[in-house]
Amino acid sequence: MAHAKLRAPELKPADYSTTFGEFVGIGANGNLFVDGCDVQVLAEKYGTPLYIISENQLRQNYRAFRDAFQKFYPDTEILFANKSNNGLAIRHIMNQEGAGGDCFGAQEMYMALLAGTNPKSLVLNGSNKQDDELEMAIANGLCINIDATDELDRIVEIAERLDCDVDIGIRLKLDLEPLRNRTGVAMHGPGTLKQQSDSTKWGMSREQTVEIVNRAKSMPRVHLKETHFHLSRMSNDPADFAVMAREMITWSGYIRDNTGWTPPCIDIGGGWTFGKWYGTGPNSQLDGPDAPKPEDYASLCAAAIKDEAEKLGLPLPKLRLEPGRALSGPAGIAVGKVGAVKTGTTKKWVNLDLSTNHLSWAAVLDWYYHSVPVKNAGAKPTETVDLVGPLCNSDELGPHRQMPELVRGDFIAFLDAGGYTESSAARYNAQLLPATVLVSGNTAEVITEREQLKDVAGRFKVPPRLLAGSFAP
Ligand SMILES: Cc1ncc(COP(=O)(O)O)c(C=O)c1O
Repeated sequence: MAHAKLRAPELKPADYSTTFGEFVGIGANGNLFVDGCDVQVLAEKYGTPLYIISENQLRQNYRAFRDAFQKFYPDTEILFANKSNNGLAIRHIMNQEGAGGDCFGAQEMYMALLAGTNPKSLVLNGSNKQDDELEMAIANGLCINIDATDELDRIVEIAERLDCDVDIGIRLKLDLEPLRNRTGVAMHGPGTLKQQSDSTKWGMSREQTVEIVNRAKSMPRVHLKETHFHLSRMSNDPADFAVMAREMITWSGYIRDNTGWTPPCIDIGGGWTFGKWYGTGPNSQLDGPDAPKPEDYASLCAAAIKDEAEKLGLPLPKLRLEPGRALSGPAGIAVGKVGAVKTGTTKKWVNLDLSTNHLSWAAVLDWYYHSVPVKNAGAKPTETVDLVGPLCNSDELGPHRQMPELVRGDFIAFLDAGGYTESSAARYNAQLLPATVLVSGNTAEVITEREQLKDVAGRFKVPPRLLAGSFAP
């Protein structure tokens, strides 16, 4: 019993004067805190740029999902989307909470297995899975969500060679007709949610799905486990996800009618995001004080699934979800140090050592990460500045931010930066990837080492024939 307690500790939200999350807020000395740790102290000790993850916030975020689905659809399994944060320690925390995982590619799968995740709680997704990837999944017993017409044959060939059985699912290309005029984040270019979904590479048509099921049914090594869909980060309105969940069931009816097999499990992927009172994410009206909560997402999806299943006379399937950013995002912050402060005729720029290499969505998706000074975090703003990084592009991390006067040496934190930051970080301008510190209560530990010059420079090779000839005349 003591052991079980240790693995999933009780969470006591910290006491802050201003709360950004249960474990992120402004502490008694006026500084930004992650759980019980003063971010000023962490930034001085570990250096910047720095990612900081709150272990307890991550657990809290997971539990909010777990409890919401427990209430509205208890037969639910939550698979953490590992791609949102690949840290091994993060995976261990998710294991302790009982989360499965969504893996993309051999490396993510390898790391999830290395962290001891139960392979039966892992799925492998991907539109172009490599042979070594399929082999690793089959040898370890993961469920593989098929997303190509020749994938079943390749799976069977490998399963026979390894003398293994294999669990499969099928990624669907849902019609999403009700989303024809709904818009969301322009994650996949312009267009409505339906247009964006139609235009991406993912998923099998109804006919292809039926063909795969009919073929797989007669393959003794193959076990059909689920259908899968992922709406991507294109909306954070739970109603859009309920449309998708309903259509998963509609397809279950179609598959049953055409093959005799009813999917015992539907996996509705991730993509639903969180909102914050101070705003976050794309410029969406749902990101604000009234942003939907996991309970809204769970209740609408559950109602749609139950209603459609009843209409079609289908048994209620097991439900799987693959949330990533909604769990890891609010669990982390990214911290940069102020360097050059420059005043122009129309603007003031505050340069940081943090860059859009480290918060890539700020550049690619115009993602809004709320920024807070670390020291005296509640100080009244006195001016509007552009928070920029050091890269050789505009490197806008936070344009038009209301800030108190900032001077060289101050630290700035960007909130809700625990997902798709380190895992999508780039090395433009040969920048080094930051360290990540995991905070739990008053304890801070490095879980990702800061990159060193040797990690960047060491990968390059010069063919010996170029050596002498490259000296300047
Ligand atoms: C198949 C699949 N599942 C889950 C996710 C996680 O999405 P999110 O982090 O937006 O919840 C992704 C993200 O790209 C995905 O491709």
